Amino acid sequence: MPWPRSISREPHLGHRLVPVVIRAGEHRDLPDITRIYNHYVLTSHVTFDVEPVSLGERELWFAGFGPRGRQRLYVAEDEGRSVGYATSTPIRPKPAYAPSVETTVYVSPERVGRGIGRILYEKLLSALEEEDVHRAYAGIALPNPPSVALHEALGYRHVGTFSEAGRKFGRYWSIGWWERRFQ
Ligand SMILES: CC(C)(COP(=O)(O)OP(=O)(O)OC[C@H]1O[C@@H](n2cnc3c(N)ncnc32)[C@H](O)[C@@H]1OP(=O)(O)O)[C@@H](O)C(=O)NCCC(=O)NCCS
Repeated sequence: MPWPRSISREPHLGHRLVPVVIRAGEHRDLPDITRIYNHYVLTSHVTFDVEPVSLGERELWFAGFGPRGRQRLYVAEDEGRSVGYATSTPIRPKPAYAPSVETTVYVSPERVGRGIGRILYEKLLSALEEEDVHRAYAGIALPNPPSVALHEALGYRHVGTFSEAGRKFGRYWSIGWWERRFQ
């Protein structure tokens, strides 16, 4: 499958000031968050969901986040619309995994390559620095050069790959795992 146009490289604008506000996600963000996520569900391999998620499913998902603790949701807001979001969630339910989280980030397809992913992730990671978090993991379905670049720029290191772990669009995709260590 060709690399989706929506996540092809745009001229990158480096660290220019991005006119967005980064804040904790709120219930009113769910329609935009769902729209952004479902775009990638339908057009790319970057998520292994294959059917769009419903607003009702997102409501349940949203209930897991809080203003403190390891499970966080941040959004980038521009003129009242959410144009990207980043999350941390438990990696597994068994209690000994609690100090580890999985992180991810999605930016609206028309806004990629403008620094929004980076500032969202910086905010998320700085919040996690204040919590009892020891490791963050990101599973990146390959290839995904922008996601790999973003994670490595923020201190994640590649620790392994599950080869051909997922099947979507009639072919297999490998998933690389990136790990970030906290003090
Ligand atoms: C991955 C994603 C979140 C990155 O967000 P973004 O706002 O586009 O990225 P940024 O503009 O903040 O750039 C972040 C870093 O990645 C690099 N980068 C961005 N796009 C790139 C590309 N297409 N190729 C290579 N590097 C790229 C930038 O150079 C930047 O590094 P720097 O700050 O050290 O210069 C975004 O492209 C996206 O939402 N993609 C689709 C969903 C997805 O793949 N999510 C991740 C799932 S694991």
